[in-house]
Amino acid sequence: MNHSFKRTTVTAALPYANGPVHIGHLAGVYIPADIYVRYLRLKGEEVIFVSGSDEHGVPITIKARNEGVTPQDIVDRYHYIIKKSFEDFGISFDIYSRTTSDTHREVASDFFRTLYEKGEFIEKTSEQYYDEEVKQFLADRYITGTCPHCKNEKAYGDQCEACGTSLNPTDLIDPKSAISGSIPVMKETKHWYLPLDKHEAFLKKWILEDHKEWKPNVYGQCKSWLDMGLQPRAVSRDLDWGIPVPVEGAEGKVLYVWFDAPIGYISNTKELLPDTWETWWKDKESRIVHFIGKDNIVFHCIVFPSMLKAHGDYQLPDNVPANEFLNLEGDKISTSRNWAVWLHEYLEDLPGKQDVLRYVLTANAPETKDNDFTWKDFQARNNNELVAILGNFINRALVLTHKYFEGKVPQTGQLTKYDTQTINEFISIKGELERNLDNFHFREALKDSMNLARIGNKYLADTEPWKLAKTDMERVGSILNVSLQIVANLGIAFEPFLPFSAQKIRNFINLESCNWEDLGKITVLSAEHQLSSPELLFEKIEDEVINIQIQKLLDTKKANEFNNEKVSPQKEIITFDDFAKLDIRVGTVLECIKVPKADKLLKLTIEDGFGKRTIVSGIAQYFKPEELVGKQVCFVANLAPRKLKGIESQGMILSAENQDGSLVLIQPETNVVNGSEVK
Ligand code: 2FM
Ligand code: ZN
Repeated sequence: MNHSFKRTTVTAALPYANGPVHIGHLAGVYIPADIYVRYLRLKGEEVIFVSGSDEHGVPITIKARNEGVTPQDIVDRYHYIIKKSFEDFGISFDIYSRTTSDTHREVASDFFRTLYEKGEFIEKTSEQYYDEEVKQFLADRYITGTCPHCKNEKAYGDQCEACGTSLNPTDLIDPKSAISGSIPVMKETKHWYLPLDKHEAFLKKWILEDHKEWKPNVYGQCKSWLDMGLQPRAVSRDLDWGIPVPVEGAEGKVLYVWFDAPIGYISNTKELLPDTWETWWKDKESRIVHFIGKDNIVFHCIVFPSMLKAHGDYQLPDNVPANEFLNLEGDKISTSRNWAVWLHEYLEDLPGKQDVLRYVLTANAPETKDNDFTWKDFQARNNNELVAILGNFINRALVLTHKYFEGKVPQTGQLTKYDTQTINEFISIKGELERNLDNFHFREALKDSMNLARIGNKYLADTEPWKLAKTDMERVGSILNVSLQIVANLGIAFEPFLPFSAQKIRNFINLESCNWEDLGKITVLSAEHQLSSPELLFEKIEDEVINIQIQKLLDTKKANEFNNEKVSPQKEIITFDDFAKLDIRVGTVLECIKVPKADKLLKLTIEDGFGKRTIVSGIAQYFKPEELVGKQVCFVANLAPRKLKGIESQGMILSAENQDGSLVLIQPETNVVNGSEVK
């Protein structure tokens, strides 16, 4: 690490605001970033910690369309849920803003304009799929068709989720617009491209020669991108959700989400520090560190640095400590399959146990390879490490002090050789801990901190002060003094990792300050200093609690299997206009008879508000005619009439189909006037 830096700008990836956050997010990005920032703050360094919600991009528009709400509704909903989860878990951002803020729009637009005016973009016209019915260019995700590799008929224009192949929309066989269902046509459209190839030589030197210290997973991915050779990348899109491209002739075009999102780090800094934000990004003595997941490496190591370089005013990141992925009970975490431990749900089920999760996710962090979270491991680490080692040691030291010294830190007498050996061992950990934290080896750093507690535990077990209480109180005092100094050290050493518990530890011993400088000292607490009454720091987690969580996942698995087999796939997306064409009404069944020579058909006479209409419906297996008379039903009123067994049917009765094929009528919850529209 270059020590000539004066301040550090730490960023954590901006999560997409199209769903809540889960343990994978925490383990991969936010916990490591938070540990690092808390550590720097403890050392008294100048640091800011910046993040926010990533609120643009196509997936948000798709979710909105599916739910029949606006993209703004979607991001408003999730931004606050995400923000709260981070607060609840003690992720200590200095700012958590959002990319729909006015400041962000301005900063991102200015950034684009600067590059545009400097001639850093190339403009290219290309042919892209266009939906003539809704008059829109189609984002890759909005085109579906048959995968040329595995023949899955529901492949997307960017990827086939059945076989995992990355696709271009033009690879799809029989492409269709997911918006209108029509067959898209090719149409010319102009976009702005960032010529990454122009920056290739610079990037090669900057990363491959000057940043050999980057984590091997990050360096390796960069090298393989650079070895393949870089191509110009489009930085605009034809979309109606995003930041408008701020130049003439760009109507209907917005900045590509991956162009504006990393600029979010800068705009959020500006929102935090309106007067001094530039120092944190432009001053040569400012160091920028991006915490991200492995799927973001190319954008943070290649694309964003090229943008910053092309702009000319900005510093490039000093390090990009990306993590690999966390799996859950052996399977990839998946939002769509609900295979995740959601942070807000975790806290409902295990209230107050933020630090247990922080501990387990750090101990198991996917720092160098993908890793697995299991509930059994969670329980074991809580019971065998947090309770049995850390909590136990602290509790014993405090209880004994209350028992023998009225809760006051005793004087130290003559130290024995064993005391000195223990103290030396424990002092030597600090250097190791710092090296690990400085190098983003948080798992090892956590082990170092835990070793401090192990040393304390062993010391008490070996010296057995409770046995000496009758004969040698001075010796008991010395042992407890050393033990309490270790407790005080734990209150500092664990602050980056387990901030809630570290605060509790400091409260137990009435330690107001928390400075890294005090770590490794055995004089943090002076003699006669009064302690508070001790409480348990961690509690054992019983099997029942864990089994509930495991059962929850088993249920999810079952539901997924069931869904895959039984629930019919969702039909194509329709537009609101398509929906509005349906005229669904409520009517009362006046008469109902079986249609002769047709097992399945019933003939219903319905009072529909205007008069009587006849509907023939294939529901005879599930309803007796007399059961239906007098009931209100919902029916499609404007379905073209058709003849069934010689009877003209003027509509369709609505019912829901159970998994076993049986039918249930759709009815208004309470009676309404016949002819009422269903909307
Ligand atoms: O992968 C993601 O979740 C992106 N929203 C990360 C963006 S990071 C940055 F560029 F803002
Ligand atoms: Zn496929």
